[in-house]
Amino acid sequence: MTMQASDKIRILDTNNEEALLGGGAKRIEQQHKKGKLHARERVELLLDPGSFEEIGKFVMHRCKDFGLDKEYYLGDGVITGYGTIDGRLVYVFAQDFTVFGGSLSETHAEKICKIMDLAMKNGAPVIGLNDSGGARIQEGVLSLAGYADIFYRNTLASGVIPQISAIMGPCAGGAVYSPAITDFIMMVENTSYMFVTGPNVVKTVTHEDVTSEELGGAMTHASKSGVTHFVSANEVECINDIRRLLSYMPQNCEEDAPAVPYEGGNEKRAKLAKIIPENPNQPYDMREVINEIVDEGSFWEVHKYFAENIVVGFARLGGRSIGIVANQPAVLAGVLDIDSSTKGARFVRFCDSFNIPLLVLEDVPGFLPGTDQEWNAIITNGAKLLYAFCEATVPRVTVITRKAYGGAYDVMNSKHIGADMNYAWPSAEIAVMGASGAAEIIFKKEIAEAEDPAAKLQEKVQEYTEKFANPYRAAHRGYIDEVIYPEQTREKLMRAFKMLENKVATLPKKKHGNIPL
Ligand code: HXC
Repeated sequence: MTMQASDKIRILDTNNEEALLGGGAKRIEQQHKKGKLHARERVELLLDPGSFEEIGKFVMHRCKDFGLDKEYYLGDGVITGYGTIDGRLVYVFAQDFTVFGGSLSETHAEKICKIMDLAMKNGAPVIGLNDSGGARIQEGVLSLAGYADIFYRNTLASGVIPQISAIMGPCAGGAVYSPAITDFIMMVENTSYMFVTGPNVVKTVTHEDVTSEELGGAMTHASKSGVTHFVSANEVECINDIRRLLSYMPQNCEEDAPAVPYEGGNEKRAKLAKIIPENPNQPYDMREVINEIVDEGSFWEVHKYFAENIVVGFARLGGRSIGIVANQPAVLAGVLDIDSSTKGARFVRFCDSFNIPLLVLEDVPGFLPGTDQEWNAIITNGAKLLYAFCEATVPRVTVITRKAYGGAYDVMNSKHIGADMNYAWPSAEIAVMGASGAAEIIFKKEIAEAEDPAAKLQEKVQEYTEKFANPYRAAHRGYIDEVIYPEQTREKLMRAFKMLENKVATLPKKKHGNIPL
């Protein structure tokens, strides 16, 4: 490469620190003013101090079109390498917005692919810190090819090593599909956005006026689309969240998640007996139940603002990682619908891929009725959750706290679809449907012909309640292994998961299943 004094070349002196700071101090300052960190600062914050080993620091783009033969930056807009988080190996790439807007060139993509390949060979997570204007426009199809190379690797790595994407700036166009294939997406409020087509195109095509934040900001994707799993108030919080998230998972699909030291004590939790209201139609917050069952402060919710009628998240029980899927009676009575089914299914599949045992807390009145649900395919989407549980081979334990009605009883990790241990509290009601609905159907004629139909209905509701609104009929059959007092739950679960620690279960030999997508 011949360099002219007049050329806008930033990398002449490789010993010059500024040269390693991407687009230079002024652009970094611009980032800071927007409330964003520089890619290098992000990597420093993410990894254990002094652990980062950079790979490809001297790589530069090869494009000579549209003036790019006059502007080169060391690293070509992405910092790649490896380091440790809490002493465990991770691979990381961080796009540098100060270099051509973090846009993805052929060489930029090659650098990302290189660390992904290393991560696969060495069985360690990949963390992507995304901040990019998308395909490097000057490079045309070479940039598109680079994206496809990454998508391909994301897919092959899925279920082999954990992949985490943090969005810390723009992520638009086809660029969104790499994070979408990874296991978890995290977004930062006010400084990050994701969309396939931006506000200008939206305006042209649908005449809608929408800002970037409204269209694809962090809260939009956290609450409306469910694209992002976590939202952070700022980048430092986001980076801390990545570190915390990794603490619940193993390095790869062959390993178990790390356990934290735990000293046993009195595992009875009296407060659990006071959570379920007297009136079975009154809501309560399932998070209270979860927090009482798991190790103190260990529950960390995933997808907190999306499909809030189901709660999913990581926790520890006796120091060991578990994944929790729980109906939430405080929202829509905990009913299953399209969004909660897909949310639950995705989480179950992540946990199963990475050997994280599953705890299901069940209080579900059934599937949500209505044209909206039926026309948008609650059949197909509800089947995703069913399928995900059916194929999960990790230790699986269910506790029915109250309602387990209809098809939802089957779906929510019932014994029949492979759960290992199923418990019920005395307050459990395991039936085809609620007592009043059931009585109205099966005693329709009798009620209509009665002198006092209301009194007759009440009598029949009572009869049905006595027969089915309890856990004992299911327990007689062995569908429930034990009816337990709420305060015993933590102790029972600790023993059950310990008993299941060495569980071995295999699925029939196949290329792969065909989950109803
Ligand atoms: C090359 C780019 C670039 C890109 C930004 N830059 N995006 N260079 N290719 N895609 C450069 C700008 O020219 C500018 O350089 C610098 O980065 C900072 O950009 P600004 O526009 O000044 O920053 P800002 O105002 O913050 O706006 C950020 C932005 C905007 C919203 C991302 O830059 C933008 O709209 N970029 C284009 C986005 C886009 O259409 N990308 C292609 C999407 S299609 P100078 O030297 O002036 O500072 C795609 C297909 C992928 O990605 C397909 C995969 C299958």
